[in-house]
Amino acid sequence: MTFSVLSPKQKIIFKWCYDGNYRAIICDGAVRSGKTICMITSFILWAMKYFNGASFAICGKTISSAERNMILPLMDIADINAYFKLEHMRSRNLLTVENGGIKNNFFIFGGKDESSYMHIQGMTLSGVFFDEVALMPRSFVEQAITRTLSVENAKLWFNCNPDSQFHWFYNEWIKRAEERNALHLHFTMHDNPILSEQQIANAEKQFTGVFHDRYIKGLWVSAEGVIYKDFAENTERYLVDKAPNDIIRCNIGFDFGGNGSAHAGICTGFSKRLQKAVILDEYYRKEIISPSQLESDIINFVRKCQRNYPVYDGYFDSAETTLIRGIKTACAKERLNFNVHSAKKSEISERIAFTDLIMSQGRFFVLKSCKNIIEALQSAVWDKKYSNGKRLDDGNYNIDSIDAYEYSIEPLMNDMIEAGQQKGM
Ligand SMILES: Nc1ncnc2c1ncn2[C@@H]1O[C@H](COP(=O)(O)OP(=O)(O)OP(=O)(O)O)[C@@H](O)[C@H]1O
Ligand SMILES: [Mg+2]
Repeated sequence: MTFSVLSPKQKIIFKWCYDGNYRAIICDGAVRSGKTICMITSFILWAMKYFNGASFAICGKTISSAERNMILPLMDIADINAYFKLEHMRSRNLLTVENGGIKNNFFIFGGKDESSYMHIQGMTLSGVFFDEVALMPRSFVEQAITRTLSVENAKLWFNCNPDSQFHWFYNEWIKRAEERNALHLHFTMHDNPILSEQQIANAEKQFTGVFHDRYIKGLWVSAEGVIYKDFAENTERYLVDKAPNDIIRCNIGFDFGGNGSAHAGICTGFSKRLQKAVILDEYYRKEIISPSQLESDIINFVRKCQRNYPVYDGYFDSAETTLIRGIKTACAKERLNFNVHSAKKSEISERIAFTDLIMSQGRFFVLKSCKNIIEALQSAVWDKKYSNGKRLDDGNYNIDSIDAYEYSIEPLMNDMIEAGQQKGM
């Protein structure tokens, strides 16, 4: 790609670092507002102008999100590749950038990858770029900042989408930007020059409630009340009598019960080109049962789903390794053509945001017969105790069915988001 046009705020991203006054830049605001692409490009240009033989850090939430959001786009920017030789050594999590006799190292870190934290300790860094800083542990961010203190002209680059107004980054950095010598720029989709008015109007229909406020309006607000408000108020819109006939694959998600919670299984189908997710069948049992009873229930549920749908993969609550092992053995004994995986268990707030997104895009449906998950989605509420978005789990809500549903969709979350973007949603 090339930067044929820059918005006024993007131009500031390319200039601020040549002004000796600022030590940091913070760009927060809406999704797809053109923050990351300009910041990473400006970061490289600045580093190559002032340093040689120095080390820098490029940090994402995880190493793979850093590669996806920054390294791959960077390799594709004509304006950068025309001047510099870039080499990405994946196995070493290192990007080297070279121009004539000048060469700098950019180490790639994932704030959430445990080992990243270890590696950054002891390094001397001339600059750090934090992409999606609100999703990183504070301890990682502070450790990385400490690594720059001995370099005189080191600078820090932060960007993120908003979270709760109680988030540490909002209080420590955004509110205190001036006293920390940081330039704060707030982005909306209008600051991305390649988005047309129509694309912005479409995007503004995405997300509801707190996610709309944060990701579209770019506000730092906390989550309160019913989570899936539109689903709760207009449930009929999301229900279907029978499975659509373009389901091409299905996953089962399973959450194990105990201590008053239920055993819950969900079978979710995905339509062609991942346009829709449809909850097709469910299992729900609240009473205490023996592991062997549970195994036989699961085998029966898988069989029942397989009779009706193409389902070959199950994602089980990874906290219960013994139960998972038992189920693997039982499936093998029964010669089921079914792969038992541990659920990924990504951040709950991310899973909720994803479901909210596909609901607002009209891509989420439930079969009318799945009473437990319907009621669970209608009644789920935010837990105010947590600033980073968790649902209330005080025994009065069925969060087991929701967990099971989320385990079933997690593996395809990113692909479904991309499929939506390709369709211009
Ligand atoms: N000036 C520009 N010229 C060409 N393409 C641009 C420009 N600004 C942004 N884009 C493109 O717009 C898309 C969104 O930009 P970017 O990823 O930087 O947004 P973001 O604000 O970081 O979004 P998010 O908050 O979702 O991470 C990208 O595909 C990017 O390449
Ligand atoms: Mg970004």
